[in-house]
Amino acid sequence: MQILGRTHSVSDRCETTICHCLDISEGTVADAIAICGLTTLKEICRETGAGGGCTACHARLRELLRKSNQPVPAC
Ligand code: FES
Repeated sequence: MQILGRTHSVSDRCETTICHCLDISEGTVADAIAICGLTTLKEICRETGAGGGCTACHARLRELLRKSNQPVPAC
């Protein structure tokens, strides 16, 4: 699919690059996790392209997944 990776690139959004091989921003991955309900690294790779190169970003992608999938604390 890789729709989000093609519509949100670092060049048109001033954000931190999380995957340098594929030029994917942290915001793109965070959006994909939230919008598509991604729960695994494999899903991130498939939907955004991030992590599909040297794998150096996999630890950061997993950390983003961990943060994104934590339950929201009750008020
Ligand atoms: S930095 Fe993400 S695959 Fe290389």
